Amino acid sequence: MQDLTPPRESLDAIEIASRDEIAALQLQRLKWSLRHAYDNVPHYKAAFDAKGVHPDDLTSLADLAKFPFTTKLDLRANYPFGMFAIPREQVRRIHASSGTTGQPTVVGYSDNDLKVWGSVVARSLRAAGLRPGDMLHNAYGYGLFTGGLGIHLGADALGLTTVPISGGMTQRQVRLIEDFKPKGITVTPSYALSILDEYAAQGLDPRDSSLQVGIFGAEPWTNAMRLEIEAAFDMHAVDIYGLSEVMGPGVANECVETKDGLHIWEDHFYPEVIDPVTGEVLPDGAQGELVFTSLTKEAFPIVRYRTRDLTRLLPGTARSMRRMEKITGRSDDMIILRGVNVFPTQIEEQLMAVPGLAAHFQIHLARPGRMDELTVRCEAAEGHTAAEARSAAARDLAHRIKATVGISVKIEVADPGGVERSQGKAVRIIDNRPKS
Ligand code: DLL
Repeated sequence: MQDLTPPRESLDAIEIASRDEIAALQLQRLKWSLRHAYDNVPHYKAAFDAKGVHPDDLTSLADLAKFPFTTKLDLRANYPFGMFAIPREQVRRIHASSGTTGQPTVVGYSDNDLKVWGSVVARSLRAAGLRPGDMLHNAYGYGLFTGGLGIHLGADALGLTTVPISGGMTQRQVRLIEDFKPKGITVTPSYALSILDEYAAQGLDPRDSSLQVGIFGAEPWTNAMRLEIEAAFDMHAVDIYGLSEVMGPGVANECVETKDGLHIWEDHFYPEVIDPVTGEVLPDGAQGELVFTSLTKEAFPIVRYRTRDLTRLLPGTARSMRRMEKITGRSDDMIILRGVNVFPTQIEEQLMAVPGLAAHFQIHLARPGRMDELTVRCEAAEGHTAAEARSAAARDLAHRIKATVGISVKIEVADPGGVERSQGKAVRIIDNRPKS
């Protein structure tokens, strides 16, 4: 793999500024953002007043802990445009995250918000190793989902040649990668696996492709999956994080030279990690729920948004801005199986360690009697489809899960191609337990 480290002089000055400079900028922007939310969004005025706090009460970054959290429920209650802080006519773009249940969450962007979004995504793509003039195959979905259009904004801002292919039509994905020879690909890690399958189906070796870096996000994935994808494509695989409520992709990104967690673009998004039960702010290094406050957003300021994503904050390395460790899961994707907390990423990590199994899997939950049962549906890797190989692989996986996660699970090993393929975000959990 080639060294794709961006030249230092191509970075934004703030990426390598001192911590003091970053903190000073954050405090100044945070004061503005709280005031902007309070003055222009009735929900924030009511929520601040109910907690007895006023934007003027913030004199240090730590004072943010006095302010109320915002949750998805607050956004739903103000559907569709109640959280906007500028007149609708000045909102240049709407996006929405579909969610699995209920109303979509609607977000909006002013002209300047789109510029900022483009600049943080450009920074992310540069951190991943792309430079002006490079070609990018953008397979995140275009539409209300922020993935496709968000990456596109950043690719324009960085000066890339973008192939806006969006998700789906996997044969055509391979065809255009082969014909156009892009240097980078942006795609969910689970859809990258579908593209890999298609390479095999066409008898092509993905290691011979032009791709030098893949920028994967929108769903949790493990370092074990990184190694698998890097080996399969002979390219770098870096992590990109974001969420619609805070902006979209480009809230944080890994640097290709270190791949040690995602630098949060802290000049626009202020992170906290809290204890998900008590709401208490935890020190850097402690694992908890990630919370974000926007520092510059005009149309849709967001104050202490509870992401439900679990991680911890770490000091900067390749950049001065703090890192977040790879997300281990969402608190709402946590399965409690007979008292043990289980995340799909823990299953993924073990699955990747079993040579006879492919990287695709789903978790099925059922309650045939009084106890919950978890079945991992996975599939045999090509060349490992004989009955004996499958049962050995199943035993191996069950044993690993028991030893590391501490739960007994059933394993079903389907034929290659037997597990439903993702076109975007993978559906990992199928819960067939009776609703109580
Ligand atoms: O998924 C934005 C995005 C698009 C990020 C493309 C990266 C690339 P939403 O649809 O609002 O936005 O979903 C946000 O997806 O709270 C996480 O649970 C999850 N997520 C996003 N990126 C990562 C990641 C986009 N790198 C939700 N690792 C977030 C783990 C991620 N989970």
